[in-house]
Amino acid sequence: MATQEISITVNGTTHTSEVEPRLLLVHFIRENLGLTGTHIGCDTTHCGACTVMLDGTAVKSCTVFSVQANGKEITTIEGMTKNGELHPLQAGFMEKHGLQCGFCTPGMIMSSHALLQKNPHPSEEEIRWGISGNLCRCTGYVNIVKAVQYAADNL
Ligand code: FES
Ligand code: FES
Repeated sequence: MATQEISITVNGTTHTSEVEPRLLLVHFIRENLGLTGTHIGCDTTHCGACTVMLDGTAVKSCTVFSVQANGKEITTIEGMTKNGELHPLQAGFMEKHGLQCGFCTPGMIMSSHALLQKNPHPSEEEIRWGISGNLCRCTGYVNIVKAVQYAADNL
């Protein structure tokens, strides 16, 4: 199959690759770049485990072709830590026990990051809407909401 050259900046580093047009962004992130913090839970746009930031907007990367991200900036969970310091959302999930198995956590954090960028002090209802595209089969969501509230108080 014909390939296409793409250039995508991920967590501040620009990567240029030849890819098949059908390559999903989540596979580019995980397999081409080895950034396996972005998870695949369904591949059908349901679970949100694959959520990343694309030019400042949270997207489900199993629903985006890598060629659609050409020339754009991506932030993954690996890009949230700065200079060895956890982002307040990462700290919040740790402090408030916002995870059990942790499978949903990277996607939860990226969706919450998008929420807090738009609305730094969300209500509980707004947090629940903000993460409504992300499924967690372990926690019951209560501590996830507390983790986002912790981050909002510490940003
Ligand atoms: S893997 Fe993308 S939404 Fe589930
Ligand atoms: S912590 Fe297990 S799926 Fe959310």
